[in-house]
Amino acid sequence: MKQYEIAKKKVLTPEISQISVYAPLIAAKAKAGQFIILRVDGEGERIPLTISSAADDLVTVIYQKVGATTLALDQLNEGDCLHDFVGPLGEPTHVEGYGRVAVLGGGLGCAIALPVAKALHEAGNQVDLIGGFKTKDIVILEEEMGKACTDLHICTDDGTYGYHGFVTGKLEELINSGVKFDHVFAIGPLMMMKFACKLTEKYNIPTTVSMNPIMIDGTGMCGGCRLTVGGEVKFACVDGPDFDGHQVDFDEVIARNATYRDFESKAKEAHLC
Ligand code: FES
Repeated sequence: MKQYEIAKKKVLTPEISQISVYAPLIAAKAKAGQFIILRVDGEGERIPLTISSAADDLVTVIYQKVGATTLALDQLNEGDCLHDFVGPLGEPTHVEGYGRVAVLGGGLGCAIALPVAKALHEAGNQVDLIGGFKTKDIVILEEEMGKACTDLHICTDDGTYGYHGFVTGKLEELINSGVKFDHVFAIGPLMMMKFACKLTEKYNIPTTVSMNPIMIDGTGMCGGCRLTVGGEVKFACVDGPDFDGHQVDFDEVIARNATYRDFESKAKEAHLC
């Protein structure tokens, strides 16, 4: 098999696919919470993707077709090779010694929540994994998530499957039913993580968030992924991606991400033309 060859490709929903890439050195070192940066071709944008699993010389990542690069990535098939595939990057998630934890995954964030929940569970914690999706048709990884935790709770915004509501609603329901969580991990869209942190602040539960802002070099040099945590500038690629959610300035990250929205939609249009 060739370096960075796509060994397996699986369509999870019409918008979300999973690829397993031949990268033995990365697979041997990768831990839960770490990510890779890939380029589809020599001219392409670098995009960070969190490692979903790593075994047998293969690194698996899951992507959503949202922009020009992920659309280009999706045109590759088994047997094609990526131009670059760099990692594992970032600090692994700390998983030992919490007790009872809740892991919240929002949509595609469930692909990241899955290895984190699995590692927490294997380290001896009691893990409630709460996965949220807009509707039943786009629920992904249910079987895998079920095996990776103590209790799995699927939520849908429209009530077509599982708990009717957001992951934060399910978390609050569990807290109000008497469950005492020692720690919460929130992984997914910025808004979901922001509101999860507001909720856990109310109940005084320490909370870790996984920040995945715009990244370019992934080495702490370009400043692309900077964010403010507890009043200090941090770089998600080298200081994170995990941070104390109660200290993250979410409004700043949300505003920074919005800056690039026009550019991204123009690049997507150009790709589709
Ligand atoms: Fe460049 Fe983090 S991606 S500093």
